[in-house]
Amino acid sequence: MKIAVLTSGGDSPGMNAAIRAVTRQAVSNNHAVFGFVEGYRGLVDSEILELNNRLVSEVIDRGGTFLRTSRYVEFTDYKVQRIAADNLKRLDIDSLIVIGGEGSMAGAHALCQLGIRVVGVPASIDNDIYGTDYAIGFDTALNTVVEMLSKLRDTASAHERIFVVEVMGRRSGAIALNAGLAGGADYMCLPGTPAVDPEQIDKISALIERRYELGKTHTLIIVAEGAGSAGEVAGALRATTGREVRVTVLGHIQRGGSPSALDRLLASQLGSYASDLADDGKSDIMVGLSGRNLTVTPLEETFTKPVNADSGLYQLAKVLA
Ligand code: F6P
Repeated sequence: MKIAVLTSGGDSPGMNAAIRAVTRQAVSNNHAVFGFVEGYRGLVDSEILELNNRLVSEVIDRGGTFLRTSRYVEFTDYKVQRIAADNLKRLDIDSLIVIGGEGSMAGAHALCQLGIRVVGVPASIDNDIYGTDYAIGFDTALNTVVEMLSKLRDTASAHERIFVVEVMGRRSGAIALNAGLAGGADYMCLPGTPAVDPEQIDKISALIERRYELGKTHTLIIVAEGAGSAGEVAGALRATTGREVRVTVLGHIQRGGSPSALDRLLASQLGSYASDLADDGKSDIMVGLSGRNLTVTPLEETFTKPVNADSGLYQLAKVLA
């Protein structure tokens, strides 16, 4: 068999570990392995390279993806998907493994509808993919944000300031909620309520004043980008409190860095499992983790079914903040 792999969409720490696991499992199953560069763009342009165990050495600890990736919006076009499917047939690729987020899973499903065998591997720092407890990269991003919150708390307390920190997630509040709880943020603005909703701004302002009365003269507020901008929240809080407010937008720092041990383990398990399923001829599914169990989910569900925020965590965050 010939198995191919590509990484697509926003990169995430652990993608290299997943490519390594796909490759080494396929070689162990006596298959040839290939990689397409820059996600679906490379597939459409047939930019392919043969992979082997040596080529995936020394990558498990590197962030990013050595195959590179792309947000190839052209791939939503049926004609472009057709070109990709024809390329895979011409290159005699028996199975394609797609490592990426929910948008990449939609592209993978489209290829299955054109007769291509595809297995998906969930990778996104947003952790917004239905069918897995964790997507590759989420844990590393959490650790990065928690470390940044700790650094910001040092200077916030030194200057007795309010810090509003914006984190990534596109539409998901998973980073804000989990890193906010783990990092001891005092308040989290999550998608579902506009960050500058007047009631929410009043609530945060009252919290700030209560903390000052208790002698806690600094406050850390985390804002999910899907709820709004930290700048807008800061402006509203300056107006209501008259206090010094500073803004930090963590941006793409959250996408970089050496993958955590958990992300390396997750990527190794999911990449190897996907490769084995490809070996078994399975298709139109995405691998995932539920608790400690490896799972498969129909691809179509991974980008159509909602991923619900963890309400239990949200309640806990309110109690512990
Ligand atoms: O999908 C992951 C993500 O980091 C989102 O959290 C963020 O909104 C988006 O990618 C940024 O996209 P880009 O890297 O194309 O600027």
